[in-house]
Amino acid sequence: MSRRRLLGTAGAAAAVTAGAAACGEPPKPQDVRRGTVVGQTTDVPVGGGAVFSNSKLVVTQPEEGDYRAFSAACTHGGCTVQEVTEVIGCLCHGSQFDLVTGEAVVGPATEPLEPFTVTVDGTDIILD
Ligand code: FES
Repeated sequence: MSRRRLLGTAGAAAAVTAGAAACGEPPKPQDVRRGTVVGQTTDVPVGGGAVFSNSKLVVTQPEEGDYRAFSAACTHGGCTVQEVTEVIGCLCHGSQFDLVTGEAVVGPATEPLEPFTVTVDGTDIILD
């Protein structure tokens, strides 16, 4: 395991502890996955993306090697977005989000998907 990954794992544990102590709310699924592999690049096509429901993330690859990650929780009503074509789509009420920015491009959602950063190591997609 690389030093970077070890540090990321320690940071995730600290974040979980701090979050629980601050307000008693459970950490978001994305927070508990920081420093861990959340998916494989082989599942994320260029010009599209994939939903990783275990980590509640959607990862896109608008251009070759340019990976973007967003919360998979739709900002309209909280459904997990279900499909990625040339946009990220929520089938609950039809909202669509931009692959590059996560901005809502078709409502009823008006707020963007929450962005996250990821690092690629081989084919592993690691949540920073
Ligand atoms: S919950 Fe996604 S469009 Fe309504």
